[in-house]
Amino acid sequence: MGFSKSIAFIVLFDLLFSARIARSDLDGAVGFLERAKEPEFFDWMVGVRRRIHENPELGYEEFLTSELIRKELDALGIPFRHSVAVTGVVGYVGTGKPPFVALRADMDALAMQEEVEWEHKSKVPGKMHACGHDAHVAILLGAAKILQEHRDDLQGTVVLIFQPAEEGGGGAKKMIEAGIVENVDAIFGFHVAVDIPVGTVASRPGPIMAGSGFFEAVISGKGGHAAIPQHTIDPILAASNIIVSLQHLVSREADPLDSQVVTVAKFQGGGAFNVIPDSVTIGGTFRAFTKESFYQLKQRIEEVIVAQASVQRCSASVDFLNKDRPFFPVTVNSKDLHGHFQKVAAKMLGVSNVGDRKPVMGAEDFSFFGEVIPSAYYYFVGMVNETQGPMHPGHSPYFTVNEAALPYGAALHASLAMSYLSEKHTPLSSMEKVHDEL
Ligand SMILES: *[C@@H]1O[C@H](CO)[C@@H](O)[C@H](O)[C@H]1NC(C)=O
Ligand SMILES: [Zn+2]
Ligand SMILES: [Zn+2]
Repeated sequence: MGFSKSIAFIVLFDLLFSARIARSDLDGAVGFLERAKEPEFFDWMVGVRRRIHENPELGYEEFLTSELIRKELDALGIPFRHSVAVTGVVGYVGTGKPPFVALRADMDALAMQEEVEWEHKSKVPGKMHACGHDAHVAILLGAAKILQEHRDDLQGTVVLIFQPAEEGGGGAKKMIEAGIVENVDAIFGFHVAVDIPVGTVASRPGPIMAGSGFFEAVISGKGGHAAIPQHTIDPILAASNIIVSLQHLVSREADPLDSQVVTVAKFQGGGAFNVIPDSVTIGGTFRAFTKESFYQLKQRIEEVIVAQASVQRCSASVDFLNKDRPFFPVTVNSKDLHGHFQKVAAKMLGVSNVGDRKPVMGAEDFSFFGEVIPSAYYYFVGMVNETQGPMHPGHSPYFTVNEAALPYGAALHASLAMSYLSEKHTPLSSMEKVHDEL
């Protein structure tokens, strides 16, 4: 490269670079948060969350929730597709052209009775938003509102995914099968967290939530009188040995540095004190952080059950229940998006409020999106206010949401998407192309 050429390149590079900075200022982390905290904006999000909280609906039954979302999108002037995967709604903000970045919220409640006494307690006996998905919907609508207010600055399209049935129903999988993410380049998802302060967020690159599967096995022998065991083949003893042997898979076969879980949570059989039953049913879950470990565990669970049953002359059949409870893949965060998240979140909240998260053995069906979209990223939005004391964990009947967290989720989700599109629009690689042409 000659002298004048290199000057030209530096000037051009400078121009492009300052355009990038200016645009990402516009993406304006701080302005978005201020907007989401304005009383009228905040009260609207809180109202949405409370209406959903009062009317919790289980997976694939989120009809009122879906209707509420569609009404709010209509009011915001945001076009959408609906009846995707029964109750799912998919909104679009921006140019309608690539690049596409998706933001996802889940909408389903749990089959449990709320024990919190407050003005907006669940009105549906035996159903409760005990995982915070009511807050997730309010946060994604908040992000939608911010993005719609800045639609002329968007350098592409934000796809707003409101999905059904996260709690075991594989709603994400059904949304994907409906074709809604075919051109999507990146996706962001989040969960409210009861263990980090409000105003902070946390995540990590790489695996963050485990892959999860379930199994059920029927161990068959020959029933008979409990006092005449020689005329029976006892499936209870066989099942007991199976359970002990299954515990050796993680303790003896897995790499101690590669976290895995096998839990037998179900053991059913017999009913009388003096009768050996014909068969016993056991069942449980297994978790791992890589595809290889996951499928290795699955294979060994089946082998151990069948072989150990035969030691006691029983037969066994193993079912992995994949139709009703699809295997959840490992949730893996893109390293590039981790850098993006850290930059955007630090600008909005300050570096000290962006934390690292340890991986957990829990599973999240967001992972289905990660399997088909080139880059995926999942993070946690803090809810703890120390003056208000510790919070009950998700899936507890005493679970509460700290609504002060809503503006942080909404502003960050919006900012992650908007700045992603800006950077995608003028990526470093296109500058390198300019360089080549000089
Ligand atoms: C925490 O709660 C107290 C009392 O309700 C409130 O005054 C304070 O503003 C809250 N702090 C945050 C960060 O929301
Ligand atoms: Zn949950
Ligand atoms: Zn959840």
